[in-house]
Amino acid sequence: MRVLILNGSARREKGVTGRLLRSIVKGLSEGGALVTQFQIQDLKISPCTACLSCMHRKTGECALKDDMNLIYEELKTSDVLILATPVYLDGMSAQLKMVIDRCMCCMEPFLTKDHSGRVRHTYAWRMPKKMMLISTAGFPEMETFDPLIPTFNAQVANFGSESIAEICIPGTIALQVEPQTLDHHLELLEEAGANIAINGQLSTDIIEKLNSPPLTVDQYLAISAKYESWCRKQLAAVLAG
Ligand SMILES: Cc1cc2nc3c(=O)[nH]c(=O)nc-3n(C[C@H](O)[C@H](O)[C@H](O)COP(=O)(O)O)c2cc1C
Repeated sequence: MRVLILNGSARREKGVTGRLLRSIVKGLSEGGALVTQFQIQDLKISPCTACLSCMHRKTGECALKDDMNLIYEELKTSDVLILATPVYLDGMSAQLKMVIDRCMCCMEPFLTKDHSGRVRHTYAWRMPKKMMLISTAGFPEMETFDPLIPTFNAQVANFGSESIAEICIPGTIALQVEPQTLDHHLELLEEAGANIAINGQLSTDIIEKLNSPPLTVDQYLAISAKYESWCRKQLAAVLAG
C-alpha cells in the first residue's frame, strides 16, 4: 500500500501536526506501507489561476509548472491520501487549500451524477481511493473542528474518494507546554497507522479514542496559564526595549 501525506502546517515537521504525523508514519511503515510525505510549506507552489487549461486544452494536466508536479506523480499512484492541517481561523491552512485547488486538474469538463445523485465532473485521472484527515488546534474543544470536518468530507466527495477517518486532536496551547500530555494519542496514532497499512481501515473504537480530547477544558486552562504568564513576561520585555 502506498500512502501520501500532505502536511499543511506552516511549522512543517516542527509543529504538533508534525508530531502527530511522525507517530502515524511509524505505524504505517511498521505495517508495511510505503509512505511519502511532503511539507507543503517547503515547496514552490502557486495558487490555481482558474485558466481552465486542464479542462479545455490538455485534459488532466495543469498548465502551471511547479512543485505540484511532485505531488501529482504521487497522487496518481497512492492508495491513501492523508491530509494533515492545523485549524487556521476555523478552516484548513491556506497551504493545504492551495494544493487541493490545484488538484482540480484531475477532473474533466464533462458532467455526471455521483453515487449520491449529486452532479460532479468526470475524472481525467483518479485521486487516491481513500482519504484521511489529521488535524489539531490551539483551543481545547472538539467544536473547534466543526467547520473543518465537513470541508474535508466535501473534498472526499469532490475526488470520488472514501474517508477512512477524521482525526482531530485539540488543545495544542497546553499540549506544547506539557508535551507528555499527548503521549497516549501518539501511541494510538501509531497503532492506527499499522491498522491502516494492514486493513486499509480503522475500527470505530480507535477513531473514538483518538477523537477524545487529551485534556479537559479545566486541565487545559490550568496548563495554559503557564503559557499566558510567559506571554506577559515576553510582551513586557519587548515593551521595556
Ligand atoms: C493563522 C493561525 C490561525 C489559527 N486559528 C486557530 C483557530 O481558529 N482555532 C484554534 O483552535 N487554533 C487556531 N490556531 C492555532 C493552531 O491551530 C495551533 O497552534 C496548531 O498547533 C498549529 O499547528 P502546528 O503545531 O502544526 O504548527 C491558529 C494558528 C495560526 C497560526
